[in-house]
Amino acid sequence: MKKVVYITGGTKGIGFGMAEALVNAGYRVAISGRNADTAKEAASKIGDEEVIIGLASDVRKLEEEEKAISDIKAHFGRIDVVIANAGLGVFDNIRDLKPEDWHKMIDTNLTGVFHSIKASVEDLIANKGYFISIASLAGINFFKGGSGYNASKFGVVGFTQSVMLDLRAQGVKTTTILPGSVTSNFNNHTPDNEADAWKIQPEDMGELIVDLLKMNPRALPSKVEIRPTQTADMLK
Ligand SMILES: NC(=O)c1ccc[n+]([C@@H]2O[C@H](COP(=O)([O-])OP(=O)(O)OC[C@H]3O[C@@H](n4cnc5c(N)ncnc54)[C@H](OP(=O)(O)O)[C@@H]3O)[C@@H](O)[C@H]2O)c1
Repeated sequence: MKKVVYITGGTKGIGFGMAEALVNAGYRVAISGRNADTAKEAASKIGDEEVIIGLASDVRKLEEEEKAISDIKAHFGRIDVVIANAGLGVFDNIRDLKPEDWHKMIDTNLTGVFHSIKASVEDLIANKGYFISIASLAGINFFKGGSGYNASKFGVVGFTQSVMLDLRAQGVKTTTILPGSVTSNFNNHTPDNEADAWKIQPEDMGELIVDLLKMNPRALPSKVEIRPTQTADMLK
């Protein structure tokens, strides 16, 4: 029986890298994004619909996450792992941070994670599954210009750790991952092979996820920090 993994925000960046690694490791995978065509196109770059599908679900809406879970079960027959990865960042001094950007970050990065687990929790309990959130090192370290992003990611870390305590008795594993700099399209960045070579790459995040899912059911790394070994200034 192939295990089925749902990754929110898998159309690019970290989510896409994790999807690729999981398909290569033999999992069945569903990725989502805000636009159906974009999600389908991203999935088709990894494999055919026997191994991966792309669907539209805006994590800001609970009913869209519920529909995504039911569509995944209709296609693959089950769901074992949910990775709440969708997220974005807008960085500004509090005097300039726009209320709409605050709401976008809280609704996507924090409420979106709540929607993803709410929509899937009964299936994860039934299958002794795994719930993973992608937080950030910004979820334990605050910085200037990061108030909205820090608030959303500090929230994700606290939320996920509490969910871990709620679900462990049912045999559901829960991990929150706190990455440092990863090459992706985050904050409108265009990946550059040379300039981004020092950063964690999406395939490294993929390797981490595959390794986590391989671990013995009795062992749970509940909070995982991952950072580049060397930063750009160390390499000068
Ligand atoms: N890159 C880093 O250095 C870094 C470090 C720490 C943590 N993170 C976290 O890692 C996660 C992934 O970011 P990334 O770096 O891979 O950025 P990215 O390349 O910009 O990818 C973001 C993904 O989120 C999706 N998304 C955005 N809003 C969404 C919504 N409302 N509903 C569904 N999907 C949505 C996007 O899909 P569409 O555009 O197709 O909707 C895209 O697939 C985020 O939670 C981010 O905060 C990133």
